[in-house]
Amino acid sequence: MESITPNEEPVNNKLVESENIVETENIVEEEEEFHHLNNPADGIKPIIKKYLGTPNHADQLGNKFFFTDGDAKVEVVVVTDLIIRVRLAPHGVFLDEFSYAVPKLEHKAAEFTLFEDENEFRVATKSINCHIRKQDFFISFSDSNSRVTSTDAVPMHWEENVKFGGYYVFCTKTCHTDESFFGLGDKPTEFNLRGKRLKNWNTDAYSFQWNQDPLYRSIPFYISVNEGVAHGIFFDNTFKAQFDFGAEDTTKTSFWADGGELQYYYIHGPHMMDVVKSYHTLTGTHPMPPLWALGYHQCRWSYYPESKVKKITRGFRENKIPCDGIYLDIDYMDGYRCFTWNRKYFPDPKKMISELAADGFKTVVIIDPGIRVDDNYEVFKQGKENRYFCRRSDDYFMEGHVWPGRCQFPDFTNPEVRTWWGGLFDELVQMGVAGVWNDMNEPAVFGAGTFPDDVRHQYDGFRGSHRKAHNVYGMQMVRSTYEGLRNIMKNKRPFTITRAGYSGVQRFSSVWTGDNVASWEHLKIGNIQCQRLSVSGIPFCGTDIGGFSGEPDGELFTRWIQMGTFSPFMRAHSAGDTKEREPWSFGEPYTAINRKFIELRYRLIPYLYSTFWEHHRYGFPILRPIVMHEQDVKLNHYRQDEFTYGDKILVCPVMEPGQTKRNVYLPKGKWFNFWTYEILEGGKEVTVPTPLETMPVFVKAGSVIPEYPVMQYVGQHEIEEVKLNIYYTDYEVNSFLFEDYGETFAYEQDIYLEKKFVVNGNSRELSIQQSMEGLYTPRYEGYHINVIGLPFKPGKIIADGKVVSDFIVNPDGTVELKFSKNFKRIEILR
Ligand code: GLC
Repeated sequence: MESITPNEEPVNNKLVESENIVETENIVEEEEEFHHLNNPADGIKPIIKKYLGTPNHADQLGNKFFFTDGDAKVEVVVVTDLIIRVRLAPHGVFLDEFSYAVPKLEHKAAEFTLFEDENEFRVATKSINCHIRKQDFFISFSDSNSRVTSTDAVPMHWEENVKFGGYYVFCTKTCHTDESFFGLGDKPTEFNLRGKRLKNWNTDAYSFQWNQDPLYRSIPFYISVNEGVAHGIFFDNTFKAQFDFGAEDTTKTSFWADGGELQYYYIHGPHMMDVVKSYHTLTGTHPMPPLWALGYHQCRWSYYPESKVKKITRGFRENKIPCDGIYLDIDYMDGYRCFTWNRKYFPDPKKMISELAADGFKTVVIIDPGIRVDDNYEVFKQGKENRYFCRRSDDYFMEGHVWPGRCQFPDFTNPEVRTWWGGLFDELVQMGVAGVWNDMNEPAVFGAGTFPDDVRHQYDGFRGSHRKAHNVYGMQMVRSTYEGLRNIMKNKRPFTITRAGYSGVQRFSSVWTGDNVASWEHLKIGNIQCQRLSVSGIPFCGTDIGGFSGEPDGELFTRWIQMGTFSPFMRAHSAGDTKEREPWSFGEPYTAINRKFIELRYRLIPYLYSTFWEHHRYGFPILRPIVMHEQDVKLNHYRQDEFTYGDKILVCPVMEPGQTKRNVYLPKGKWFNFWTYEILEGGKEVTVPTPLETMPVFVKAGSVIPEYPVMQYVGQHEIEEVKLNIYYTDYEVNSFLFEDYGETFAYEQDIYLEKKFVVNGNSRELSIQQSMEGLYTPRYEGYHINVIGLPFKPGKIIADGKVVSDFIVNPDGTVELKFSKNFKRIEILR
């Protein structure tokens, strides 16, 4: 539907309608004549966009408000104080309430009232208003200071989609001169989407390029920032959808879909962070990952046979480069049949997996949706017998070619199929598999790209063609995988990773950005994609480190490892036709630098894990772009290189070959250079040297950054003490540390510990207070405290009222001491 121009003005509705009536009358006469000749070419009623007329009536049913122009109906639902949902039914009949993205629309006891005056209806919560203008059905939103944040530029509209026998549905809003747009998942383009038109249709995009659209995921959620105020729009429609952010007409923002319901959530800020958090209250957050999944993962298409896998894992231990995850790509299977093993390459998988586990490696296996048509293959037989595969509309099973050859595909939108599929993992789990990688689930089909539109889906009882189910197929696949694993692994956290997804996929899986390329440009694309996924509700994301296709040189690979150290998910992966790609493959100095950064990754695991908790529990993203810190500074809307990892560590990957220095923007406040401890004033750009062995990393003054000792894998040794790096501040700063078992679901029963540190200081003293809440007791006894940046030489240290005589002042000014993990207050005095 590229030709659609969503931003047409609503020519006077009344007039169009009256003309239509005249035309209809003519047609009626002419139809009599032409009807049997099957040639209605003359006088055919033109397809035109229909716009809402004037609202003449309002009804209320609890927190739902209905407005109608006599034919079409609009529903306005108060979801929370800050979230309002709008739906359009062109002929007054709404679809059943069902969404894969929003599993349960909870109506959090919001206060709301309907007001009416001569100009408008207004649904008001404590914090926002939804205005329905009587003159033309324009819908707009304002905050409690009467500041209008979003306005229709034309009324909601629809247009007959003859190929579908339904409607295209459209919403067009005013786009302000200074408005910026963020979100929409994995788009490989500038971070700020202003001026772009983008499409959502999950697509297998091997070696994708800058600006290529669409890619693997469909996240119909964007955030607008205008004059320092943010709001979000979540267009929960799974059909092929498009977004236009002032591309066609700089004064308009539109979103539309090839079918389905025009249904969107207005999510108020005023801060971008509020919008993202509210979006998570609708679509859910990522469960706590197993701790090991925060380590380094090594992947390749493919490591086989067993001796090769062992050679790689041995390589990590011999080179003393930490690693937790080892992946088996498609070649571990028998003829690419899912849930089977190639016994020539892997004669005893259970033994191999347990040996790998004994050496600290978790085995992750790939599972694709295409099931080989083969009556001697158990999975196919079961699927066939139970009619679990997707059917075409003419009622034969849909077939397509993928890695195994001719395949049929489970209908993951059927709950019974999901349960069956989930159960298939039993044997893999018994063999010791710790994680599953779902790939090709856009779904990808060789030649055609994906399924034909007419394929039928059960859609959890709500029925749909592939037009409607396409964008959720991958998400339902990984949901089924995750739920199955969770069921089988009982109280152990499974690890899952998926390529395709729709809003809400974060409840079930991590993601990677797909088949990227070993180029400097792709390092930049990956950086933007991870930040974008993070603000789009997908926190646990990463890129194929090194680039999937093509050959990186040592420098590019090392720069990518550096960026990956600060990606929520860290995995190197490469295509089978490339050279070996392990962290030691490029020789020195690269190996040593890669080791140093992977070790840093492991040191920072408790920090990352605590940030993950902030995500899981409170809906904060893990990566936070600069604009999220300072959205009122317009220039920041265009910054896309630097970001923070959690809220305390700022990182700027080096993305040019041979770069020896670069500018980095630091948000307001004081920052410490992570490597040199130099203190810098933020609110401006600073020039930072970037020799290969380092990259720009800064820590916010006042932070407490917890560190684990470097291990070759998570849990290699019992942790004897946790290091706390405390950065001096002269204003109060809070930090958090989350601790629990790291691999069970006990946290769902509140078995965890949340620690809060409050740091404050002046030219004579620095104080650190600790408070804790929760039922978990870590096994280590003490902290190794490292105080950085004291502006004075410490004369006395008092911990919980007692003088500590045992402390060291290092030549670089840092002060080290050891103390009980249960301290309440430490004071360092001049
Ligand atoms: C797809 C995946 C890639 C994988 C390959 C073989 O291209 O994106 O990661 O290695 O298939 O399974």
